[in-house]
Amino acid sequence: PAYDIVIRGGTLATATDVFKADLGIQAGRIAAIGLDLPAGVQEIDAKGRLVLPGGVDTHCHIEQLSGSGLMSADNFETATRSAAFGGTTSVISFAAQHRGANLASVVEEYAALAKKGAIIDYAFHLMVANPDEQTVTQDLPALIRAGHRSVKVFMTYDAVQVDDGQLLDVLMAARSAGALVCVHAENHGLLKWMGERLMKRGYTAPKYHSVSHPQAAEVEAFHRLIAFSELLDQPICIFHVSTAEGAKVIREARGRGVKIYAETCPHYLLMTAAELDKPGIEGAKWVCSPPQRGSSDQEALWQALALGDLQILSSDHAPYRFDETGKLKYGPNPGFKQIANGMPGLEMRLPVMFDAMVSQGRLGLKKFVELTATAPARIYDLPGKGSLAIGMDADIAVWDADRKIVLADNLHDNTGYNPFAGRTITGWPETVLRRGEVVVAQGALKAQPGSGRLMLREAGEATRPTGTLSPEFDPARNFGAKLY
Ligand code: URP
Ligand code: ZN
Ligand code: ZN
Ligand code: ZN
Repeated sequence: PAYDIVIRGGTLATATDVFKADLGIQAGRIAAIGLDLPAGVQEIDAKGRLVLPGGVDTHCHIEQLSGSGLMSADNFETATRSAAFGGTTSVISFAAQHRGANLASVVEEYAALAKKGAIIDYAFHLMVANPDEQTVTQDLPALIRAGHRSVKVFMTYDAVQVDDGQLLDVLMAARSAGALVCVHAENHGLLKWMGERLMKRGYTAPKYHSVSHPQAAEVEAFHRLIAFSELLDQPICIFHVSTAEGAKVIREARGRGVKIYAETCPHYLLMTAAELDKPGIEGAKWVCSPPQRGSSDQEALWQALALGDLQILSSDHAPYRFDETGKLKYGPNPGFKQIANGMPGLEMRLPVMFDAMVSQGRLGLKKFVELTATAPARIYDLPGKGSLAIGMDADIAVWDADRKIVLADNLHDNTGYNPFAGRTITGWPETVLRRGEVVVAQGALKAQPGSGRLMLREAGEATRPTGTLSPEFDPARNFGAKLY
């Protein structure tokens, strides 16, 4: 037979087209897309099904030590297994440096863990928390040139945040070597001050977590970050945009030509801060940062996706169990400041967004593929990922668009709860292939831990400065100073 596998009779969808075709796979790649393809060694019947590119989730914390020293609940095996069950076939997680650690060794450690456990393909963001001379001038540029083409910094969290000068150092290092800089942007002083004021007055329940992250913290940090990005002409990606005003700041900056990408996550579109308001400590399960907001923020984020101000839908998978190893590490009734930030998201990202975008019709199927697979693969330069075209990796999810599911606390990760439990959604990824290997079929895992591959990346379009020099960095206007 001409093909290892033929996916037959389905409706294919990319970010630009929806059409009926068979899809032939040879040696892990898409070898043919056409009508009435000859038989494959294996045939997958896709009649009445949608054939979509596997999801690309470019923001997930896997087997990672948090800023407060807490290990995330998943290792690479459980996290990528759960991703695969949700139709996702590529992830970018973090090689997370902590203060005092050597970034190059950190990358080696994470790469070894992923190599052992990952079931789907993976790349790393270089997370810099210790931007000393060695890191900024030696290790970071070398690792970027070795193919880790994105860097992550936090503007908040005591243990990992960088200050303004350090942020400028990291932006400059990324510019010199060719990487996109991703940022968790919230004003640290404001969060700290609000958190302490609430706690001191006895407002310690999980719901006050949302009050402790004012919209202004996002707005201020976005403005500061964008000002630096614009000054240095260094592209950035703003992580997890959660507010209407934050989205507006991004829109303004993009409108004047600043090279900014930005993402939001399902929990900002489909949840509000009301999730945190549950009896007792139950709301801790929904504590994440930034917190869920209000319904007007949700509307603004949908609008920003529609307009292209936000280009990526990621999960921000940051799993902690609802027990003493995770959310309740500091006792059975912790104040909101002591609750680990984050929720599992790898498995539910695509199903809940498919339901909202395709089944309920908001923005539609092509935009769903674009935001969850094509754009993230393009912006982060993941080779062969994010679409259906001849020569690309055969990363494919076959969806039953009509299947109704009541979500339960039965995810395939190690978190033990599902923040979307209780909702009914329509649409489910039934069969998932990664590089032409079936990883999930009939509700069962088919691939082995360690079968995922590290993706090294070229410096693509998103990493390139615009070439518009600010007056301070333009020798023709700064009295000849060479600052790059
Ligand atoms: O609450 C979250 N998202 N925790 C993970 C760390 C981060 O801020 O992305
Ligand atoms: Zn973050
Ligand atoms: Zn503004
Ligand atoms: Zn995160």
